[in-house]
Amino acid sequence: MPVHTRHWTTRLPWSDPAGRFSVLKATCLIVTTLPAAWMAQEVLSGNWDFPSPYIGLIYHSGLWTTYFLLASLMVTPLRAISGWRRLVQLRRMLGVTCFFYCLLHLVAWFGLRFWDWLALGDELFGRLSLWLAILSMAILLALAATSFDAAMRTMGARWKQLHRLAYAAALLGVGHFLLSPGSVQGTPFLMAGLLAWALGWRLLARRSLGESPSAILGLGLIASLLALLLQPLWLMTVQAATALSPVSALLDNLNPQVWQYLGMPPVWQLLAWTLATVSISLWRQAKTSPKPISTPHSIS
Ligand code: HEM
Repeated sequence: MPVHTRHWTTRLPWSDPAGRFSVLKATCLIVTTLPAAWMAQEVLSGNWDFPSPYIGLIYHSGLWTTYFLLASLMVTPLRAISGWRRLVQLRRMLGVTCFFYCLLHLVAWFGLRFWDWLALGDELFGRLSLWLAILSMAILLALAATSFDAAMRTMGARWKQLHRLAYAAALLGVGHFLLSPGSVQGTPFLMAGLLAWALGWRLLARRSLGESPSAILGLGLIASLLALLLQPLWLMTVQAATALSPVSALLDNLNPQVWQYLGMPPVWQLLAWTLATVSISLWRQAKTSPKPISTPHSIS
């Protein structure tokens, strides 16, 4: 009887599935550590000391948690649209990085409240935004804890089902961001638009339209419109106490002078994303479409 031995190999973060050094993964690893290195530099240099270094740390670690979570959700669509199969090797690294930034974010919040558990519990119970945050983090913890090859093998089909919860974590995380007191313009609406794009792409893929340039164009326009309209809607409802008027917020999207201070509005960033994804899908279509068969020139 043959004896089966299991080989549990530990792969280095920069190795590809065959165990070879991967330039793509090594680059991704460097890129994912840069925000942490920058935050450490800002804290250590004292640039964020006033009123407390934890405020800058909470804000930026929260932003990078969300960026990396959304980036991990974009891997599958980008791989399908571009046909660049190796891109999938980055998904796990982006997901695990997101979890580490979330841990940093949580520790920064503890630090801001001087590790006073009563004060932390009090704040948590009173704010819906923090409930969403805790739920999102609980999902991220489950995903990080099962991100190893061994867990993937042991869990089989259940692994895929569990890891689909990354979309729920992103919905809760973006909800937490939108409900935070400072969310009146800019990045939270960009994140909401990108998340809508990622969810919408899944629906397209189910109908076998995930690689169609016209479907991707339609999806990008809908996500851009959503980001455009969500801000005034937010200013009229959740953020009604703020002095910013919904009409002037809408007009700011057309005023490049305002962009100098607030950055490029989400709607334009999403339109740029739409242009990029549609161009990639058109290029891929041109590359893969069958070439016309050339007929030999007739000799007269
Ligand atoms: C245990 C989990 C978490 C806790 C306790 C927490 C707590 C906080 C707190 C106290 C703030 C400061 C702003 C505010 O008071 O609303 C904040 C900001 C933020 N958090 Fe979290 N968070 C958690 C998880 C997450 C997760 C999972 C994400 C993303 C997926 C996230 C994204 C953000 C972002 C983007 C901000 C910046 C919002 C702003 O200040 O305008 N957080 N978080």
